[in-house]
Amino acid sequence: MKIFITGLAGFLGSNLGIRLANNGHEIFGNDNLIGGNLDNIDKRFNFFESDCCDLDKMTEIIPEDTDVVFHCAATAYEGLSVFSPHFVTKNIYDATVSTVTASIRKKIRKFIFCSSMARYGNQEHPFVETMSPKPEDPYGIAKAAAEDTVKNLCDTHNVDWTILIPHNIVGPRQKYDDPYRNVISIFLNKMMQNEEIYIYGDGNQKRCFSYVDDCIDCMEKCITHEATSKQIINIGPDEETVTIKEVAELCANEIGHNKDPIFTSQRPQEVKYALCSSDKARSLLDYKTRFTLKDSIKKTSEYIKSRGPKKFDYKIRLEINNELTPETWKKKLI
Ligand SMILES: NC(=O)c1ccc[n+]([C@@H]2O[C@H](COP(=O)([O-])OP(=O)(O)OC[C@H]3O[C@@H](n4cnc5c(N)ncnc54)[C@H](O)[C@@H]3O)[C@@H](O)[C@H]2O)c1
Repeated sequence: MKIFITGLAGFLGSNLGIRLANNGHEIFGNDNLIGGNLDNIDKRFNFFESDCCDLDKMTEIIPEDTDVVFHCAATAYEGLSVFSPHFVTKNIYDATVSTVTASIRKKIRKFIFCSSMARYGNQEHPFVETMSPKPEDPYGIAKAAAEDTVKNLCDTHNVDWTILIPHNIVGPRQKYDDPYRNVISIFLNKMMQNEEIYIYGDGNQKRCFSYVDDCIDCMEKCITHEATSKQIINIGPDEETVTIKEVAELCANEIGHNKDPIFTSQRPQEVKYALCSSDKARSLLDYKTRFTLKDSIKKTSEYIKSRGPKKFDYKIRLEINNELTPETWKKKLI
C-alpha cells in the first residue's frame, strides 16, 4: 500500500516507516525537522522536508492513490506547553487540521491520528476510552481539539479514521538531548555523562512506558483491521506501573550510575497518575506486551551509547518565563 507518515524524521514516525517498508509498503512522508533528525530517514523513504501547517504543500506531497495517512507529526512537549503554548499548540492543532484537509482533498481511504494520553488529564485511573477528555495543559487541549476535528471532517467527507492514544514511548531513534521531554532518554544521557539527574516533585508520579515496537504492532494493524474503524484506542501496556523514582533506579542500574538524584519543584499542571487501560487494544488488536520496561531501558541505552551521549539543546524558546517556570529550564541545569 501507499502510506504517508507525517513526522517521518521523528522517533515514532521513523520507526513506523521502517516497519512498514520492511513489510512491503511504499512510504512517503514529511517533517519540518523541529524535533526530528535527518539520520532517522531510511533510504527507502520518499521524504519531503516541509511543514504540516502548509495546506497547499501537504496537498501536493500526499501522492494520488494514498491508502492511509498516519499523522505522527507534533510538538510532543506536554510539560513545556505550559510555558511555550503558541509553539506547541500550533504544531498540533493547525498541523492536524491542514494534514486532514489535504488528506480529504487527496481522497485517501483512512486517517490515523496519534493523540496522547494527556487528553485524559487528572481523571480516575486507569483511563478508559469512554471517558470524556479533560486535559490539564495546552498540549492535551490541542490534542483533544485535534481529535474532534479529525472525527468531524473525516465523518463529513467519508474518510475512515482511527485515533490512537499512545502512553510514554521509549526506544531507539528517540531524541535524547532535549531537556524538555523524554524522561528515560534524559536520565540515560545524563547518567552516561556521570551527571546527577533532576526529578520534579517527590518522584512518586506513576507512569507506564511502552517500547516503540509494541506501539507499532498496534499501529500496523489499524491499516487493515476493520474493527478499528472510527475507534479511539489506548495503545501500550498497563501491566508494569512505575514511579519516576523507580524509573531513575532502573536507569542507574543499567548504566552503573551511583549519584543520588536532585529533587526539584513539581512542574505546574503535571498529572500525578497517568495510566491507561489496554483492554480495548487487547480485544480489538490482540495487543500483547512483548518488551518489559527493563528491556526498553536496555535497548534505549544501547542506542544512546552507539551514538554517544550529548549535551542538551535548549533551542526552543520559553515563551513564558516567570516564577513558575522550572529552574532546570531557566538555568539550563539539565
Ligand atoms: N513519545 C511519546 O512518549 C508519545 C506519547 C504519546 C503520544 N505521542 C505522540 O506520538 C507522535 C510522535 O511523537 P514522537 O515521540 O515520535 O515525537 P518526535 O518529536 O520524535 O516526532 C514528531 C516529529 O514531528 C515533527 N513535526 C513537528 N511539528 C511539525 C510540523 N508542523 N510539520 C512537520 N513536522 C512536524 C518533528 O520535527 C518530529 O520529527 C506525536 O503526535 C506525539 O504527540 C508520543
